[in-house]
Amino acid sequence: MTVDLLLGLQWGDEGKGKIVDVLTSKYDIIARFQGGPNAGHTLEFDGIKHVLRTVPSGIFHKNSVNIIGNGVVMDPVVFQKELEGLEKFNIDVKTRLLISRKAHLILPTHRLLDAASEASKGKAKIGSTLKGIGPTYMDKTGRNGIRIGDIEMDDFKERYRALADKHQAMIDFYDVDLQYDLKELEEEFFTAVEVLKELTFIDSEEYLNKAMREGKSILAEGAQGSLLDIDFGTYPFVTSSNTTAAGACTGLGIAPNRVKEVFGIFKAYTTRVGSGPFPTELFDEVGATMAKVGNEFGSVTGRARRCGWLDLVALKYAVQVNGVTQLYMMKGDVLSGFETLKVCTAYEYKGERINHLPYNIEPENVTPVYVEKKGWEADLTGMSTYEELPQELKKYIEFIEKELEVPIKVISVGPDRKQTIIK
Ligand code: IMP
Repeated sequence: MTVDLLLGLQWGDEGKGKIVDVLTSKYDIIARFQGGPNAGHTLEFDGIKHVLRTVPSGIFHKNSVNIIGNGVVMDPVVFQKELEGLEKFNIDVKTRLLISRKAHLILPTHRLLDAASEASKGKAKIGSTLKGIGPTYMDKTGRNGIRIGDIEMDDFKERYRALADKHQAMIDFYDVDLQYDLKELEEEFFTAVEVLKELTFIDSEEYLNKAMREGKSILAEGAQGSLLDIDFGTYPFVTSSNTTAAGACTGLGIAPNRVKEVFGIFKAYTTRVGSGPFPTELFDEVGATMAKVGNEFGSVTGRARRCGWLDLVALKYAVQVNGVTQLYMMKGDVLSGFETLKVCTAYEYKGERINHLPYNIEPENVTPVYVEKKGWEADLTGMSTYEELPQELKKYIEFIEKELEVPIKVISVGPDRKQTIIK
């Protein structure tokens, strides 16, 4: 049996949560493979909006098993809140969710280190969500981290203390003004660890490989987006994990030859939250309209997202790195009402026209080259079939498919589960 992957192709916030939720009924297992509570996967159904942070988006379907894989970093404090939120809706998280013993723990001092590191960078800051993601992955690769499985060990508290003390010295080294009460944070942390212990910890690579042998179907759910990948994103303005397809193999213990379909999720335009290059960013009324109509505010931090035209150079790059087999276009409805739409098909780079992502994509090096497409007026939010969509949108879709050489299988025309058009 094989595994399908679902990934974001831009700078995150593409709408992955909604699509996992829509697809879940087809899969036995939904597994998150990287990232942590920096993610905010939004799902909307029955008039209620849910934002998931670490829990996979299949949690609302009672027949699917949800797994937090080894590649994820988990904050017990955030998880406890997420759990309480879901239990209010009678979602039985404790029986539907399994957690890898090899996933790493985010300590309160990881969060503080994140804040200290960002404060010390001044204008060059990454624009991190400050959830402790970078410092936790640093400890993972530095071979100092504490993992979920360590919670079951007798020396968990000593190991915690040793690492937290080391962090404390590092925070002091940054010499920034950070107000915090570590005792209080630690109390909150250890209370949350007790809650976490009520969940089932597993060797998820064993579980998943056995499930595959038994013929079960698995959907691997990515977080953030390909352009935030630690290797292939717009470094250093990236997150600290591999958000691209290879991350699903290392983050779950699944061999590459097991991967079948790769679903690439993208918005009909582009957004980015936090700092870093964004060639097609708009600073005018058009960008402001996209932000307003698209409700482009971060689901984790509430920060306003930067908005711009669709960038096919960047998208082509993401399609290539991930081996995308099917595209899912989100938020097509947000583009209704623009007379003309622009699509970036190349960059002017050092006097040359290129159509790949160069090493330096800072705004001073790159000028986007656009083609113009005719817009449409119709409100798409009530449409349910491909035939109903305006001709101009169909042309927009066909143009993207031709440029990327991958079919667009689904067009999302609103946040609700039902507002999903299969082509
Ligand atoms: P961090 O991973 O929280 O340290 O953030 C690093 C960069 O990735 C920042 O620019 C964040 O805004 C961005 N980022 C992290 N997680 C997400 C996400 O889920 N959606 C969009 N951007 C994200």
